[in-house]
Amino acid sequence: MILAGRNLTKVGQTQETIKDDSPAVPTRLLELDLGVQADVRKAADEVNGYEEEIDCLINNAGIMAAPFRLNPDGIESHFGTNHVGHFLFTNLIMKKLLAAKGGARVINVSSSGHRRERTRFQDYNFENGASYDKWKAYGQSKTANMLFSVALADRLGRSGLLSFSLYPGRIPTNIAQGVTREELKALGWVDEDGKPIANPALKWKTLATGPSTQIVAAFDPVIKGK
Ligand SMILES: NC(=O)c1ccc[n+]([C@@H]2O[C@H](COP(=O)([O-])OP(=O)(O)OC[C@H]3O[C@@H](n4cnc5c(N)ncnc54)[C@H](OP(=O)(O)O)[C@@H]3O)[C@@H](O)[C@H]2O)c1
Repeated sequence: MILAGRNLTKVGQTQETIKDDSPAVPTRLLELDLGVQADVRKAADEVNGYEEEIDCLINNAGIMAAPFRLNPDGIESHFGTNHVGHFLFTNLIMKKLLAAKGGARVINVSSSGHRRERTRFQDYNFENGASYDKWKAYGQSKTANMLFSVALADRLGRSGLLSFSLYPGRIPTNIAQGVTREELKALGWVDEDGKPIANPALKWKTLATGPSTQIVAAFDPVIKGK
């Protein structure tokens, strides 16, 4: 299990948890900042040097509703991190994925937020910020996650690659850290104290059940071939 992240201290804590829980599972740490293409290339080089096969890649990292910022490559930060970083990394390790003997899966974690915006192929930087909308920026990146999955299935499905995108459901993670409590209240997601509203229509998952959709997409044999 390769644990990738931009903050190795945090990823190391996850590694320790896995060691305690499942000591037989070998782990590696991989430093990967998806918002900087040079870092993505460095991480991909490292992975391509591993002796192990890679049979599953879960492109899960993301930011949501952040203020306008261009990354060092001149790309709006949601589009750069949520889509382009994953897109580049996946393609740079593609030979290794295609070499997996049992076939590999690529999972792109999208969101119902994709409904907020199409992918703005002609203007992914929102006129260099002039017409920026943080929710549309998240939306376009999440639409791109889905289009990437469809294109991968289309182009490499015949080579044995399985490609899925998914909406993980509503989970009380850190994803909304850039959104004020007032805004979250106005969206009907949290109460006065900032706690998730127990409205069955919102279908909140817990942190423990949060990754279940990713797990199904990554490992369930039932969806193989679909
Ligand atoms: N939570 C929900 O209700 C919900 C709903 C729909 C979709 N999603 C999707 O689920 C995925 C996971 O989000 P989450 O809810 O678990 O949010 P989260 O708690 O904020 O986790 C996001 C993760 O992405 C990492 N990340 C952000 N920028 C990065 C970068 N430049 N390079 C590498 N890693 C980076 C963060 O790393 P750091 O710890 O270093 O910041 C963090 O580990 C996202 O794709 C999100 O769009 C979540």
